[in-house]
Amino acid sequence: MKKKNQKTDKIDWSKNEYKKHIIEERKFLWREDSIELYAKWIGLKSGMTGVDVGCGLGYLGWTFWKYFGKGGKYIGIDISEKLISETKEISNDWVKEGSAEFLVGDIYALPLPDSSVDFVMCQTLLMHLEKPDKAIAEMKRIVKHGGIVICMEPDNLSNSMRVGYNSVHQFSMEELLLIHKVQFCWTEGRKKLGEGDWGIGSKLPKLMHDADLKDVDIRNNDIVKFVLPPYETPEQKDMSQKIKGYCKKHFDKKAIRKEVDEKVLAGGGSRYLLRKYYNFLKDQKQHVSSKILQELKKKHYYAFWGSSFFYICIGRKKKA
Ligand SMILES: C[S@@+](CC[C@H](N)C(=O)[O-])C[C@H]1O[C@@H](n2cnc3c(N)ncnc32)[C@H](O)[C@@H]1O
Repeated sequence: MKKKNQKTDKIDWSKNEYKKHIIEERKFLWREDSIELYAKWIGLKSGMTGVDVGCGLGYLGWTFWKYFGKGGKYIGIDISEKLISETKEISNDWVKEGSAEFLVGDIYALPLPDSSVDFVMCQTLLMHLEKPDKAIAEMKRIVKHGGIVICMEPDNLSNSMRVGYNSVHQFSMEELLLIHKVQFCWTEGRKKLGEGDWGIGSKLPKLMHDADLKDVDIRNNDIVKFVLPPYETPEQKDMSQKIKGYCKKHFDKKAIRKEVDEKVLAGGGSRYLLRKYYNFLKDQKQHVSSKILQELKKKHYYAFWGSSFFYICIGRKKKA
């Protein structure tokens, strides 16, 4: 059962700004042909019953539906009552030839009996939790013996170390180290404040092993991020729009700074580090962002981030 002081995700994902963020981030998150391979690798079959914990708007439901939904059942669970009712409404668009149920519930105390479903999955939920080990134990509790637990989570700490390349500005070693140092302290701070582990992706196999799950295996997202003129494919259009938005965003807003300050300081960073970081952002905004916007307009801008560390990890509950 959930302990009183066990912190859960403190973000209210039903708020429009977060919902918008989730919708945008999910547009090209996994490749469809890779999803087909993962479904095979996991062993999804028509007629199965699967639970999606922290389902949000039901992304994992519609993404995997065609591999288990025919004659099967999707159970979306989320802590937000508002999201659950919205998700139920939009599920009519994708729940065909099978059924779906939507429940308000907490991952630390799922509203389902022991050993009752074929698989249970989550995506970008463990990274927000104070006790991901307890969450995995609860996922394991509801899955049948021989059933599968699936966790899809990034390692954003490693992601912040990517060097990449872009045609406007090549970060210096000092700049890269500064970005990583801030990200490192920020990640440590989040953990200390009980707000989850941004680098959880790299710990998934161990978490599953410690939960006594068997046949633990892991794969990485194969999306490679880049933007290449003339930005005409849907993915390229989306990417160029996102860069525009990013270049126009004001990172020096008080609310953003307050969040960053709180976490970086809790994670061992200093006020000096923060000052250096904000000066760097200001400088980027003045000299780099405007140039990127011009180059994008002229369709000259090229950038390459490479792959991101975003994992799909599976483990099987022992046969009884
Ligand atoms: C980052 S969103 C991910 C949504 C969805 N899995 C996706 O990938 O689009 C995290 C979701 O987990 C839900 N959540 C947060 N804490 C939870 C908890 N303790 N139990 C169940 N759901 C929770 C949030 O309301 C939110 O919808």
